[in-house]
Amino acid sequence: MLEISERTKNLGTENAFVVLKEVNELIRKGKSIMNFCIGQPDFDTPDYIKEGAIKAIREGKTGYTPSPGIPELREAVAEYFSETRGIDVKPEWVVVACGAKPFIGYTILSVTDYGMGQKVVYPNPGFPIYESLIRAYGAVPVPIPLRESKGFSIDVDYLEKLIDNKTRLLILNSPHNPTGSVLDKETLEQIADIVKRYDNLWVFSDEVYSRMVYDGEFISIASIDGMLERTIIVDGVSKTYAMTGWRIGFAANPLLAEHLSRWVTNTESCAPHPNQYAALTALTGPQDDTRRMVETFRRRRDIIVDGLNSIEGIKCLKPRGAFYVWPNVTEACRIVGAKDSEEFRTRLLYDAGVAVLSDIHFGHKNVGEGEHLRFSYAASEETIREGLRRIKAFIEENRV
Ligand SMILES: Cc1ncc(COP(=O)(O)O)c(C=O)c1O
Repeated sequence: MLEISERTKNLGTENAFVVLKEVNELIRKGKSIMNFCIGQPDFDTPDYIKEGAIKAIREGKTGYTPSPGIPELREAVAEYFSETRGIDVKPEWVVVACGAKPFIGYTILSVTDYGMGQKVVYPNPGFPIYESLIRAYGAVPVPIPLRESKGFSIDVDYLEKLIDNKTRLLILNSPHNPTGSVLDKETLEQIADIVKRYDNLWVFSDEVYSRMVYDGEFISIASIDGMLERTIIVDGVSKTYAMTGWRIGFAANPLLAEHLSRWVTNTESCAPHPNQYAALTALTGPQDDTRRMVETFRRRRDIIVDGLNSIEGIKCLKPRGAFYVWPNVTEACRIVGAKDSEEFRTRLLYDAGVAVLSDIHFGHKNVGEGEHLRFSYAASEETIREGLRRIKAFIEENRV
């Protein structure tokens, strides 16, 4: 009998894609849906970036490139990382791949060995691919709970207890998907103090939302004293320049670059040649479109947070970054008789025409934290206002 490996049978997924399929099916059948599922900007890639790719194609830049990327892009990324993080990053530390996502796997593969009991600590709730790849690559997943009472930041005392000599990698994600929390300097310094006690402990710093910070500033843990060497800085053009489908991301680390690059050789060969030029154009061109997009997100954040907080049974912290909110809907579930956030989500979709994700799509529920939903506000103001109206009406009309 032809069999599928246990590893593959047990492989996790990004449930946003599964729910999106369900949502698109309903839309195809003609149902009106206010969609808050999608983790990508609802803007088109700016024209000057598209022109950069078209020019590259016309000039025949359509072949394989060196695995770590074209030298011009590696230089531009080094400059971008150096300027935005206040550190000195060299072009030879930079590796380009098909999005930021592949670096999650390449990093786990580069710093842990299969089945050796080596631990990777990652945020919970969090981007689901962290846990699925930690498991698939035979390391031990150790979730660090992000609690509402701590503003969904990292509880440093708790982290200290989780980390030991078997911990090889700490995954950080700031601004954070799905809660929108941003790690401040003091917290990053405390995290760094703990990490530096261990000689063989790397940090994967997922910074794909680094440009989307609305209050205060973005700080990378790589900029904290003594952290540059052990931190893999990861960012990309997907979110910042509305380029999710172009599949260009980048990582930088002085010690790991050559190994990450070998993983690229073994898997993707290289990121698409013309798209690397598009990314180069994005990083080196005018940044007005990104600034406008971020301003728009800030406005929407205020609308959605205020709107959610005005609905009976919903409490929503004001996140400082990314384009997600993570409201607590425990009381709303009780009001409408939903047993949990997932039932509430399903009823919102089918009965109210509002598509969101629930906390089970982002890891395990943390004990005592109640029920949460994730809204992406990469949606127009009209969609946000209509979605809020529908949720309010749904709760009012479905009291048990
Ligand atoms: C936290 C986080 N990391 C990585 C990614 C993947 O980004 P990319 O499109 O660059 O692969 C996402 C996309 O949703 C994300 O939310």
